[in-house]
Amino acid sequence: MREQVLTWLRDRVPKSRFNHILGVEKMAIALAYHYNLDSQKAATAGLMHDLAKNFPPDRLLQAAQGADLDIDPIQVQTPHILHADVSAIIAEKEFGVSDREILDAIRHHTLGQPAMSDLSCVVYVADALEPNRGQTKALEALRETSWQNLHRAVWQTSDYAIQYLLAKQCVIHPRTILTRNWALQQAKSQGKKAP
Ligand SMILES: [Fe+2]
Ligand SMILES: [Fe+2]
Repeated sequence: MREQVLTWLRDRVPKSRFNHILGVEKMAIALAYHYNLDSQKAATAGLMHDLAKNFPPDRLLQAAQGADLDIDPIQVQTPHILHADVSAIIAEKEFGVSDREILDAIRHHTLGQPAMSDLSCVVYVADALEPNRGQTKALEALRETSWQNLHRAVWQTSDYAIQYLLAKQCVIHPRTILTRNWALQQAKSQGKKAP
């Protein structure tokens, strides 16, 4: 199936996006091994997370409406956010993925979701931190954190995304904040439990 997905992607995303997808796949597999998760599921979610990345806005809205998704006003205004949900729809319809955990990891890769699974956390973090994202100090620090504590990495990756959106004067989807607060609380309560 991997070759089939790669062939599908080659026709639909530019080379830079294709390389990013391979980077997410690779980092998601490595993090899954590190945290004793199912690396095959991580590979599939990483490979398919951006299937709909280059779909035009009207196609994203149509696909989301066709799948009866709840579309909020920010998503209507910025349909690009829907590429995560629509990628999960394509993974299911086009490639026959039925595993709920994989589909959720694809769906949550952009905004996250409070109480998301460790597999979703891995894909969320890998999407932001894979090597093609750059080599800045901030990214290198986040990468280091991603090997130390998964929820801390989700929290700080969300902070990084929020800071980026603030600087660019972009709308921030409230789910990014909810994900950040959830992950922060998880990381802090784990810290308290540690001996
Ligand atoms: Fe994406
Ligand atoms: Fe991505």
